[in-house]
This record gives sequence, C-alpha cells and structure tokens, in this order.
Amino acid sequence: LAVRLRPHVKTHKTLEGARLQLGRDDGPITVSTLAEARQFAAWGFRDITYAVPISPGRVEELEAFFQQGCRLTILLDSEITLNAVEDYARRFKKVVSVFLKLDCGYHRAGVQPTDPKAVTLAASMHDSAAIDFRGVLSHAGHSYSCVDRAGILKVAEEERSVTVAFANRLREAGVEVPEVSVGSTPTCSVVENLDGVTEIRPGNYLFFDGYQAAIGSCETSDIALSVLTTVIGSYPERNCVLVDSGALALSKDPGARHVTGGMPTFGLVCDPKSLRPLPGVRLGGLSQEHGQIEVEAGAPWDELRVGNKLRIIPNHSCLTAALFEQYWMVDGGGVVGSWKPIRGW
Ligand SMILES: Cc1ncc(COP(=O)(O)O)c(C=O)c1O
Repeated sequence: LAVRLRPHVKTHKTLEGARLQLGRDDGPITVSTLAEARQFAAWGFRDITYAVPISPGRVEELEAFFQQGCRLTILLDSEITLNAVEDYARRFKKVVSVFLKLDCGYHRAGVQPTDPKAVTLAASMHDSAAIDFRGVLSHAGHSYSCVDRAGILKVAEEERSVTVAFANRLREAGVEVPEVSVGSTPTCSVVENLDGVTEIRPGNYLFFDGYQAAIGSCETSDIALSVLTTVIGSYPERNCVLVDSGALALSKDPGARHVTGGMPTFGLVCDPKSLRPLPGVRLGGLSQEHGQIEVEAGAPWDELRVGNKLRIIPNHSCLTAALFEQYWMVDGGGVVGSWKPIRGW
C-alpha cells in the first residue's frame, strides 16, 4: 500500500525478530521501552520511535542517543512533557524529534482530534526551535474489541481517516506534518487503503497469538509462538490435569472474551508436535507456577498423562514472550536456534 513499515519490536524484543520484520540489520523501528531503544541503538539502528509518551523525568536519557548519532523520536500529548523536552533541548543544545500522539478512537493516550488545544499544542511543537516536529502518530488499539475481519476493516479506516483528517487540519493551520504514522496488528493485517498515511507500526504479527486468531487478524495456523509445557498432575476423578505453566509463563491475559464468551481460557492446549488444539480441554485456571486444565468426557486422556508434553498457544504473545529469558526456534520439530529478548525499561 506504498507506506513505510516501521515494525514494532516490543513483541519479541530481539535483533533476530527485527531482522525478519525488516529483511535487514537496520532500518526504522518502533520500541516500547527505553531499554529496547538503548539496545537497538547499540546494535546500530539509527532511526527509532519510542511509541509510549515519554515520562518528563526521563527526557535527559535522550542524551545517550544523540551521543551515538541515533535519531530517537519520542511522542507526547501534554504541555508539561513539551516543557520538559524544550528545557532539556535548550540546556543540552539539541533539537529533539517529536510526534504528537493522537487518540484515533482507542481512548488510551493522545490528544482528541476535535480539541482546539490539540492544534495549539501541535503549533507550539512546530514553532519550537528545540523541536523537529515529525507529525502525528496514532494506534487503533480498539481494533482488539472487534469480533471479525469486517469490524477490523472499519476500525482500520477510522484509524486512517481520523489521523489523516487531523494532519490536514494542522496543515490548514500552517503546521507542516511530514509523517502520518498509524498501525496495530489487527488493522494492518486487513487494511486495504492507506491514503494519506506515511508509515505503519504493527508488531504482534511476528508471532501472532490466540487473541489475534479469535478476532480474525490471523488463522490459528499462523501463530508462531507456543509454550512447551509438561503435565505434572493428573486427577481423572475430578476431570483435571495440572501443567507446569502458570501465570509467570503465560500471563493472566484473559484473551478475546468478547468473542470466545463462556468460561475464561488462558491459552489453547495443543498437541506438542502438530500444534493442533486438543479437543475437550480448557486451560481454565492459572496460579503462579500451576496451570489447571479441565478435561471433558471423551478428551484424549492418553495425551494427558503425567510427564507428557503439551504446547500452549498463549492468548497474548507479547506478554508471554516478555516472561521468558530466551525463545527456542523450532523448525520441523528440531531446535535450530535461540533468541534472547531485551529485559527491563
Ligand atoms: C503506539 C503503538 N504502536 C504500535 C503498536 C503495535 O500494535 P500491535 O501490538 O497490535 O502490533 C502498539 C502496541 O501496543 C502501540 O502501543
């Protein structure tokens, strides 16, 4: 669709993952922590967007990126943060690259597109000698509330049209807007029109997960990440087995409850080799290191004996991946490598 891909690396937090997304060892990326930004800058990445509004108290951490010749673009949506950025830029004689964060319907962060103060804030950024105003950035996280592909398509169009219309409003007010940046995995998986947009920032798609499959951004067979687990208890008298994957292996993300309905399930229990979901089982309870699988009559008890391996497809791969020290790369059943994600903030 003729836009730049600036993949989010927060799902995998690895050089290897970024390489797969970009097809090379550098290029534009999006990060969600300054720790990711520092490590990717150390690996030679020179164009990074930190896509969480920066804490005013951490603005001085930008200095390290200037020292390395890395353009770290930050985003903000408040005058308080703008003042902190301008203060830092003046004291350290720097020009900071900044996006204005826009709320395109998710209502998590960002200025409201109809708020006149949003235009004033953008104009102050544009006119500031301390700031290189990069443009407008939005994220349609509300695409995760959809129930199917048609619904996601509508949100994708809302993300595009609201963000582009706001950018045009700024242009009419005399503000130059070089970049219009949008993107979530659901919207980018189905979008058909990106007129007026300059770049997209999906991230989760590198692994996908149970949530994405439930809402229609991918098929279950597209999901690359699973947790290999072992049955550590078997209790046929109460139709239950225990596995050694609890909340610290899978996270307690309840998944797409608005689609799946019924009782919660904390992941899809699968055959360890074929990755096909086992019939009649539900991962219904998690404590720190225990996972409780409820087993229906007729379920394959043979595959649920103590010591047997299973694979669990997590509801939310970003959270699950962040809980592990490393990922094993598997191809055709054999381990072919390992990746170590960046930790911390
Ligand atoms: C600002 C921003 N951009 C892009 C993304 C990537 O979206 P996804 O996780 O759906 O791939 C996120 C994810 O939270 C985000 O917060």
